[in-house]
Amino acid sequence: MDYPVAEPIRTRLQRSLEMSDFGYAPYDPRVQVGEALAAYAQATWGWSVDPEHTVVLADVMRGIELCLTTFAEPGDQVVVNTPIYPPFLGAIRDCGRTLVESPLVWRDGGPSLDLDDLAAKFAAGARVYLLCHPHNPSGLVLTAAELARIVELAEQYGVLVVSDEVHAPLTYPETACTPLLKVAGADRVAVAVTSASKAWNIPGLKTAVVVADDPARHQALLDLPVRTRMGASILGVHANIAAWTQGAAWLADVLGYLDGQRRYLAELLAAELPDAGYTVPAATYLGWLDLRAYGLDDPAAAILERGRVAVSNGAEFGEPGIGWVRLNFATSRALLADQVHRMAKALRTG
Ligand SMILES: Cc1ncc(COP(=O)(O)O)c(C=O)c1O
Repeated sequence: MDYPVAEPIRTRLQRSLEMSDFGYAPYDPRVQVGEALAAYAQATWGWSVDPEHTVVLADVMRGIELCLTTFAEPGDQVVVNTPIYPPFLGAIRDCGRTLVESPLVWRDGGPSLDLDDLAAKFAAGARVYLLCHPHNPSGLVLTAAELARIVELAEQYGVLVVSDEVHAPLTYPETACTPLLKVAGADRVAVAVTSASKAWNIPGLKTAVVVADDPARHQALLDLPVRTRMGASILGVHANIAAWTQGAAWLADVLGYLDGQRRYLAELLAAELPDAGYTVPAATYLGWLDLRAYGLDDPAAAILERGRVAVSNGAEFGEPGIGWVRLNFATSRALLADQVHRMAKALRTG
């Protein structure tokens, strides 16, 4: 995001700078970080997080990888909804687990989950469902009913749901985002992974949290060697606490601006790239653009070469992403307009 960091985070980091306090993070910061997350989760989603059920680690992907290696065996099937944030695909492969795709479907132009396909993949032997909620890159936010069905299916087929909710604070106000662990019965079948890193734009500071309400699962994560599971930085711990406890006003402002950006992107595309497909996302600052009508094998490469705009290549998000690109619109209106203009020129000269 191209916006100045939230004032409470800046102030806290300045204090660390003035005190030259750059040592290791506290040996086990889960109570402080867990309490801060719990306060935010209660106020924002009515979700009661027990700080004692948390595990603090370096980042969300580390949390996901540790869940895959701790709760699944080599070769076990892990389901994801493609197109999907590419490190999910890499993590599953690198951990030696088996990737199973349950692609999103586009109904009435918008993305949705295919619950029948998901049930079939669970029935066929899945061990873990790596849910991205809200979904990167599509911005899809599931309904409470869909989440309840996921819990039901997970219980029926003995699947663990690992729910990456790092984009949840970036859900636009017209949509209700329900944390999975708030759904009845989810404590038995799910763990959540989150961080203030995306919403407050501090991923380089390195701190994330796993919430595991099931005592055996929580203990299994705590029992991992500290060198493997920790890795949070002291600045990340302080910044996450500041974000969760004092960052709501900044985030509301930023979301208001991003709300304008997601709609402005629709206007710009209609004017300059009328054959592009785009659904205004319910969450996040990512535009997931269907450029297949422009007939290029790799539209992202053409946009970079000819337009000097770096968008993510949809093919990296799995096969359903071929011909699509992901555009980050968390910038100024002027830059967004320039980006789309350059993209249009690049695609037209094809
Ligand atoms: C869905 C999702 N999960 C995880 C991450 C990465 O988080 P971290 O840097 O904490 O591993 C991102 C980053 O964009 C993301 O979009």
